[in-house]
Amino acid sequence: MNSFGGLWLVLLVALCLIHQQALAIHENIAAGKRYHIIITNDIHNDVVPLQVRCKSKTEDLGMRTLFPGAAYFFSTKLDYFRRKLYFCFNVWGQKSRYFEAFKATRDEGRCGHGKMRYCFWSAREDGFYFSGDNSTWVNEYPW
Ligand SMILES: *[C@@H]1O[C@H](CO)[C@@H](O)[C@H](O)[C@H]1NC(C)=O
Repeated sequence: MNSFGGLWLVLLVALCLIHQQALAIHENIAAGKRYHIIITNDIHNDVVPLQVRCKSKTEDLGMRTLFPGAAYFFSTKLDYFRRKLYFCFNVWGQKSRYFEAFKATRDEGRCGHGKMRYCFWSAREDGFYFSGDNSTWVNEYPW
């Protein structure tokens, strides 16, 4: 190998190391972001509870039964490529609804601020309402 080739090799290795370092730093920043997802049953019906089952591609959080006023909570960390998705299948009496409880690309910027990152979901008679601040609600998934 002539000295030119040697130089290129050194440069290439250096670039790879820098790139890996940059990726690791970025990953740490992104990975530090934890999001809390809260699903509350705000359907005022003491007889028929809400059943919620949330999953991601790799996780099944299991079936939960929520009576009125009860809340279900889970949290997740943001992944580097923002591919994280938790979807839930809900049953209330004769009604059923699928909804996306956490979608990294959609929710990264709208669930709370600073270190308090909450995605609020409220199940109501007419659908699943979303709030990023626990006070303004939008029906994003009508039954
Ligand atoms: C959201 O608001 C409800 C009703 O005001 C309150 O009880 C609850 O503690 C709040 N949750 C969070 C995490 O701030």
